[in-house]
Amino acid sequence: YLNYRVPRTRRDIFQTLIKGLQRLEYRGYDSAGVAVDGSGKDHAASISLYKKTGKVKALDEEIYSMLSRAELDTHFGIAHTRWATHGEPSPVNSHPHRSDKNNEFVVIHNGIITNYKELRKYLVSKGYEFESETDTEVIPKLIKYLYDNRENEYVSFSTLVERVIKQLEGAFALVFKSIHFPGEAVATRSVRAMVSLKLRLQSAHTNKVIYLEDDDVAVVMEGKLYVHRIKRKAGEDPVRVIQTLQMELQQIMKGNFKAFMQKEIFEQPESVVNTMRGRICFDSNTVILGGLSDHLKEIKRCRRLILIGCGTSYHAGVATRQILEELTELPVMIELASDFLDRITPVFRDDVCFFISQSGETADTLMALRYCKQRGALTVGVTNTVGSSICRETDCGVHINAGPEVGVASTKAYTSQFVSLIMFALMLSEDRLSMQQRRLEIINGLKKLPELIKEVLALDDQIKSIADELHHQRSLLVMGRGYNYATCLEGALKIKEITYMHSEGIMAGELKHGPLALIDKHMPVIMIIMRDACYKKCHNALQQITARQGRPIILCCQDDPEISKMAYKTIELPQTVDCLQGILSVIPLQLISFHLAVLRGYDVDCPRNLAKSVTVE
Ligand code: F6R
Repeated sequence: YLNYRVPRTRRDIFQTLIKGLQRLEYRGYDSAGVAVDGSGKDHAASISLYKKTGKVKALDEEIYSMLSRAELDTHFGIAHTRWATHGEPSPVNSHPHRSDKNNEFVVIHNGIITNYKELRKYLVSKGYEFESETDTEVIPKLIKYLYDNRENEYVSFSTLVERVIKQLEGAFALVFKSIHFPGEAVATRSVRAMVSLKLRLQSAHTNKVIYLEDDDVAVVMEGKLYVHRIKRKAGEDPVRVIQTLQMELQQIMKGNFKAFMQKEIFEQPESVVNTMRGRICFDSNTVILGGLSDHLKEIKRCRRLILIGCGTSYHAGVATRQILEELTELPVMIELASDFLDRITPVFRDDVCFFISQSGETADTLMALRYCKQRGALTVGVTNTVGSSICRETDCGVHINAGPEVGVASTKAYTSQFVSLIMFALMLSEDRLSMQQRRLEIINGLKKLPELIKEVLALDDQIKSIADELHHQRSLLVMGRGYNYATCLEGALKIKEITYMHSEGIMAGELKHGPLALIDKHMPVIMIIMRDACYKKCHNALQQITARQGRPIILCCQDDPEISKMAYKTIELPQTVDCLQGILSVIPLQLISFHLAVLRGYDVDCPRNLAKSVTVE
């Protein structure tokens, strides 16, 4: 039984849906749409569709005034925000999609239907006219076709849906509504789906969620929810528990910040503490990641560690590889999930594969996980989302506890992934005598980290003034090496994705092998030169840049006159242990990208063409 306040009018229904969409909007905001019961006497036998390009607000503004306050007997609506895969963002390509002009069946869909071309061809041959360029539209047409050809038998809505999904290939989570089944909706996700369908209204109306498994069919009928399996295996329990979301509403509110991203950058002194809480004992210098304890022996005996992720999560692997190699003395591979799959990379039973993902839903990472599982490797999730697909499908894992991350550009999740992987290296090396000194140094560094992060955040005004100077530029290079190379990649990614400036993270050791040709007095360059094993080599790179009239902005340690005198500008950072320095050096780049985006007039939390969870390959 869905225990939420039953809406009374169409306007109520609409507002409930819109609020839900606004909470989920960071997952895709190219366009939005709703389908609600029609108005008038016979409202249950009609469905009204409203769709609009752009953000949910645009949909809200367009149709709010059009909705009547009429009381209704059925209170049913479905809604969707879209991140475009097939077809440009436009009302006609938005969801819900419909079977025909009478809206007999309407469908919303996340994922991809890979055999849509064949289905479309077949349905066109049966006289169906398509209005969109999407893969989704075959679904409402197909269900209508099956309904119209059901040969005098009674077919329930859920049976019809099961017949439809038998014809579909790909990855899909779907919700159906129909004028033939008023007061009812059916939801499902596929066997081959990579999409997690969460039956949830993440709004003021409820904090209850149900996670569906592949092959589940959920039917909501007259306020009650029924879940069954398409093919139930012996002994399988089809009961899906209703879980309570722990996420407090205030946690996902912006407060006094201009954007979620800015709020999340400034949360990092607390989010790294939450990542370490209950795991590091600073008195005994021990680190215990409860989620991995049972598999520790197996991990210690492994052939190699493979860290797999996409985007920022991949960079967390780049950032920690060196210390993992040093403390575990194991070979460590770092892999972009898509490339790892493209290469059909050999994986063995005695490999330990880490899947790093903030959302826990990224399709490429999830596919790589399934690939490694099939080959018998031990799989470890490093995610920020309890109950996500990656959480559920890995053998064991670490929850990074960074708290909800809403801004599309990942910030605090990166630093928490970083800390989690460092903790893993510390845990694995606990019984190595030769490592004790180094471990102690790192554990002490972690203890002081939150205070040092605060010191870096206090440089915000200085960083903003640098952004003021740079915001008209077309390009920005970020250069460094060793422990800070990951910061260059991550900083350049942040700049690209929210400011739309061209940016490149360059390994300083590669400078003379090509990138030096880009340097002249006009090209803005940010260099990271910290006092670590690479200091001298970075200094050489700096000289090569200044000799070509480059004017580098340098992230360096406090009190480094050698560097300061060669810099156009410096941002002086507190020093920490070499392998943790990347946690501090990334923050000025997160802040620079934020200020650049604001100065260039862009929506920081919703960069064009991107979405928070990328649930398609
Ligand atoms: C960049 C960013 C993306 C994600 C990537 C993986 O700011 O957020 O590059 O890191 O899409 O997402 P997750 O971590 O959810 O697997």
